[in-house]
Amino acid sequence: MYIFVNGKILDSELPAVKVFDRGMVFGDGLYDVIKFQDGNFIFLEDHIERMKKSANFFGIKFPYTLEEIFEIGQKLSTMNNLKDGELYLQLTRGVDVIRDHIFEDDYEPTFIEIVQPVRKMNPEIWQVGGKVLLHPDLRHKFCEHKTTDLLPNVLAKKYARSKGAYEALMFREDENGKYVTEGASSSYIFFDGEKIVAPKIENILPGITRMKVLWLAKEMDMEIEERRVYLDELIKMKEVILLSTLSRVLPIVKVENLEFKKGEIARKLDMAFKDLLSSHLSIK
Ligand code: PDD
Repeated sequence: MYIFVNGKILDSELPAVKVFDRGMVFGDGLYDVIKFQDGNFIFLEDHIERMKKSANFFGIKFPYTLEEIFEIGQKLSTMNNLKDGELYLQLTRGVDVIRDHIFEDDYEPTFIEIVQPVRKMNPEIWQVGGKVLLHPDLRHKFCEHKTTDLLPNVLAKKYARSKGAYEALMFREDENGKYVTEGASSSYIFFDGEKIVAPKIENILPGITRMKVLWLAKEMDMEIEERRVYLDELIKMKEVILLSTLSRVLPIVKVENLEFKKGEIARKLDMAFKDLLSSHLSIK
C-alpha cells in the first residue's frame, strides 16, 4: 500500500516515521477520518477545519492546505487502486532527539495520509438496527479534539464488540447522575417523542455527521435540544440514533436490555443524509 509521509509517497512496508516522533511516544497528535467515493472526499473541508482548529489549540503547525491534502488523497486512491475508501489523516507535533515531555514551539510536524478500504460493516445492521452497551467514559478533558491517544476508546469498543454489541455508549457522572457522552468512535442523538435531544458538546467530539444531521433536522423543522442526557431518561426515549462518518445514520434498537424501535425519525434523517451525500458526490 502507498502512503504519504511528510512530502513523500512511500510503500507502507518501509520505515517512515521516527521512533522519537511525539505521536509515537506521547500520543501528541491529531487525526481525522474522511470517507471517499469516486474521487470525492466527503465533507473534507469540515474535517480539515476541525483538525486545523485543534492544531491551533495545541500549538501544532498545520503544514498543508485543503487543496494539497485533497490532491494527495486523490493520488493515493489512484495509486492504491481504491475508488471507495477511508482517508486517514494524522498530524503529530514532530520528532524529539530523545524522549522528553517538554517541547519547543518550533517543531516541524509529521503529517501522514493513508487511504484504506472502508472497515467492514455488515450492511444488515442498517436494516435491523444496532445494539450498544454502556461503558464509563474514562478519557481526559480534551475530547473536543480528535487526539491520537485513543486507549480508553479502543478498550470501550473492544468491550462492546466482545459482548456482541456494535458500539459502546459512554457516560460520565455529575451531581445529578450519569449522563451520555458519546460512543468509542461515534456520536449519539435521541428522539423523546417530540424533539431531538443531542448531548451538548462539552468535552465530546463535535462530530461532522452530527453537525450535518442536526442541520438537516432543523431544515425539516424538527425541534432540537442540546443538553446533558441522563441514563435514567433513556427509558423515556422513543429513538436512539448513532452517527459517524462510517456508520452514517444508524438506528439503535438496544441499549443494554432497554429496547427501542427503529423509528420514523431515524428513517427520515437517514434519507435526508443520503440525499446530502449524493448531492455532495455529484459535485466533482
Ligand atoms: N470516529 N466521537 C468520536 C469519539 C469519534 O471518534 C468519532 C469518529 C465521532 C463521529 O465523528 P464524525 O461524524 O466526524 O465521523 C464521534 C472516526 C470515524 C474514527 O475514529 O474512525
